[in-house]
Amino acid sequence: MDVQLPDNSPAVSVTQPDEAAAVLAVVRATGLFDAQEVAVVDELLTYCFEQGPERSGYNFLSCRAGDRLLGFACYGPTPMTQGAFDLYWIVAAPASGRRGVGSALLERVLTEARAHGGRLLRVETSSRAEYEAARKFYLGHSFALEATIRDFYSPGDDLLFYVLRMS
Ligand SMILES: CC(C)(COP(=O)(O)OP(=O)(O)OC[C@H]1O[C@@H](n2cnc3c(N)ncnc32)[C@H](O)[C@@H]1OP(=O)(O)O)[C@@H](O)C(=O)NCCC(=O)NCCS
Repeated sequence: MDVQLPDNSPAVSVTQPDEAAAVLAVVRATGLFDAQEVAVVDELLTYCFEQGPERSGYNFLSCRAGDRLLGFACYGPTPMTQGAFDLYWIVAAPASGRRGVGSALLERVLTEARAHGGRLLRVETSSRAEYEAARKFYLGHSFALEATIRDFYSPGDDLLFYVLRMS
């Protein structure tokens, strides 16, 4: 079912423990991620809620319309750097795609990262066709493709590093 977003920007807030199941449902709904990847998100959520964002290094943001989760992001400061941040996950529910959910999440990630001394935001993705939406999204939001490791994930499937410089 399509979700109609209100005219104004969708609401982004810090993910709460009772949203964990909905976050995992959004990951599964994309059809892009296997059980191992879903399990990684589950582990990160648990770690974040148990240790807190600062100690764990993982911050989750939810994008909601009322009680419905439209998407989420997970980001954090990159260990052993000064001001580099990683965008570990950014996902919009397929029914809510291309309606500004990803943009609203990214905007909030950048606001939070800047407030904590962020200089650049790195995101990794794959060269596979399934990730074309993500690659276009990054390039459309001032990320640049800064490095490629060919055949990283598997023969023919490259690892791409996109970087957004925040200054
Ligand atoms: C990447 C993603 C989060 C973008 O979220 P979104 O809510 O659709 O993004 P927005 O509506 O804010 O921005 C839309 C822009 O993203 C790009 N985009 C999004 N979906 C696209 C698609 N299917 N094809 C081409 N470009 C696409 C375009 O640049 C688009 O701008 P346009 O509509 O003006 O052409 C979403 O596509 C997604 O969840 N993808 C699957 C999960 C994923 O690969 N995440 C990244 C790795 S964790």
